[in-house]
Amino acid sequence: MSAPEHTVELAGLTLAGPVLVASGCGGTGRELASYGALAELGGFVTRSLTLNPRAGGPVPRLWESPSGLLNAIGLQNPGVEQFLATEMPWLAQQGTRIVVSIVASTLGEYAELTRRVAGAPGVSAIEVNLSVPDAAGLGVFDVREPFHAANVVAAVLRALPRGVPLLAKLRPDPHRVVESARCVLDAGASAVVVGNSLLAAMPDGRPAGLSGPALRPVALRCVTDVCRALPEAEVVAAGGIGSAEEARAFLAAGARAVQIGTALLHDPTTAARVAADLRGAP
Ligand SMILES: Cc1cc2nc3c(=O)[nH]c(=O)nc-3n(C[C@H](O)[C@H](O)[C@H](O)COP(=O)(O)O)c2cc1C
Repeated sequence: MSAPEHTVELAGLTLAGPVLVASGCGGTGRELASYGALAELGGFVTRSLTLNPRAGGPVPRLWESPSGLLNAIGLQNPGVEQFLATEMPWLAQQGTRIVVSIVASTLGEYAELTRRVAGAPGVSAIEVNLSVPDAAGLGVFDVREPFHAANVVAAVLRALPRGVPLLAKLRPDPHRVVESARCVLDAGASAVVVGNSLLAAMPDGRPAGLSGPALRPVALRCVTDVCRALPEAEVVAAGGIGSAEEARAFLAAGARAVQIGTALLHDPTTAARVAADLRGAP
């Protein structure tokens, strides 16, 4: 475990450090655990779970673009019940904060998912994925306007037991991110995650999310703007972070913590390494 002085307070939780694994990029957690103890990290965000299992999109689902990665995973996941039965019990034993990401098609489905997830042992917080790049195409709730995001947050909060924080994950859209952050925080979100992968296209034209280094300057702009406009907001940064220096740029902009995603697909030790570098470990 990290020394106490490296802990971070986020959404009323004490994290072991400022580095978390981003949703969808750490597998079930077991894949990463063979490269370093998850307990050294501030937290692990699960891939976004839906009420029912989803098979995901056709292959190829991943494509390298210059300085970035395109993904068209299509929200593949085993469904919430299977996840709670087979993945959560192991995750809950890893000594790190487990943040469960959820995504749904309707407000009612969001509430139902929240009820099932929030009561499960070991769940530290819920991350609501309000930023699926191709939401309409995938048939999930399409957050076209910031007030749609606020509606989802309100629906989740009605079903969420007191004391379980809600993180709202927003699009890295520099034109709307401040307004979106304001809306979800006003609706009761404990913190915002800025942001997801950016809507893009596979070479064959299928919708995809762009992530990795190509996204980093956009994400940094978004985080900077949110932190300046809403200095009280608790912000978690995501987008192309792969080193301690890059993480520090987001922390200096005002983020409390960072999530690491795509870099883990290239080097599964990245999160542990960035966490150790930020601690100043030799
Ligand atoms: C393969 C892959 C799968 C992802 N799956 C999810 C997901 O299920 N839910 C989600 O909110 N974000 C998902 N993301 C987005 C990441 O969590 C992250 O927000 C985004 O990629 C930006 O950070 P990065 O550049 O460090 O990857 C996924 C990204 C990738 C590359």
